[in-house]
Amino acid sequence: SEAERTERIESALRTLGDDVVILGHNYQRREIVEHADFVGDSYQLSKEAAAADAEYVVFGGVTFMAESADIITDPEQTVILPSMEASCPMAGMAEALQVDAAWAELTAETDADVVPVTYMNSYADLKAFCAEQGGLVCTSSNAHDAFEYALDRGDKVLFLPDKHLGENTAHRLGLEDEIAEWDPWDPESADASNVVENDVILWDGYCQVHERFRESHVESVRAEHDDVSVVVHPECRREVVEAADVVGSTATICETVADADPGETWAIGTEIHLANHLGRWHPEVNVVPLCGDACMDCNAMRQIDPNYLAWVLEELVEGRERNVVEVAPEEKELAEVALDRMLEI
Ligand code: 13P
Ligand code: SF4
Repeated sequence: SEAERTERIESALRTLGDDVVILGHNYQRREIVEHADFVGDSYQLSKEAAAADAEYVVFGGVTFMAESADIITDPEQTVILPSMEASCPMAGMAEALQVDAAWAELTAETDADVVPVTYMNSYADLKAFCAEQGGLVCTSSNAHDAFEYALDRGDKVLFLPDKHLGENTAHRLGLEDEIAEWDPWDPESADASNVVENDVILWDGYCQVHERFRESHVESVRAEHDDVSVVVHPECRREVVEAADVVGSTATICETVADADPGETWAIGTEIHLANHLGRWHPEVNVVPLCGDACMDCNAMRQIDPNYLAWVLEELVEGRERNVVEVAPEEKELAEVALDRMLEI
């Protein structure tokens, strides 16, 4: 039963004491966030990982987040991911090998300085590649700062992997006339010599969960509820962001609902678990999922089953480290440079 599992988790945590800290992303299941020492967005979790001094950081999130935690924590700290199946599909849409080949093609077409910026939702080898080329990492809460950093140091940005976050950020900075989308392997896509004429070059990646939100969802929710306000994540399509009232990272979405007056209605355009958490955390606010009955469930985040959390913790009690996430040393140093550049801006 859930009560028995909760008792197993709590008992293991009592034994492990300060040796373990649990970080949970806002999209994790209720049964995970209830046990987390800290719940937040990707940026906040990377800060918490950097500040943690526990021997074990157990990460309720997806692989790229656990990798980033491993990069940022001290070498003697160990990062554990309760399920190794929790891989964000968007992170797999820009593999370092592909980007390396595309980069050579792109930079051969121009004398301008192109600075690569990768979204946190990417693997360590791509973060390392970006650092090597003078670029950095960003999350949805600081993409605009990262673009400014890149354009201060170079002439153009290559943003990977999320085209929607890239497009929304370019609009925020008034660069909407400078955007080119690029898929080097699509014969229909503009070629490198054309895209490089623009200041903001967007890799053709996207989030399968956020891409499902449509402008019609915003229209329907406005028709169904009087005085509803709409908050969405910047991984949503441009037209959805334009139709919304507020756009921001999952932390911004949480703050927006926390700051709402009792009785206000807020429609939440992001992963369904967060919409459900907000309904529980703020019963005085009328929280509705933007998608209505359609389920915007992130399959990668859902892989972190509370039974696996119980398992990794009980194994630690027995002195066995399971599901350790360890970035290869040759990538770690450079990927850390890219993450540190973000943490400094
Ligand atoms: P946040 O950084 O806003 O928490 O987003 C992470 C993510 O994966 C969104 O899909
Ligand atoms: Fe990846 Fe989208 Fe899931 Fe976020 S919600 S982890 S971007 S698949």
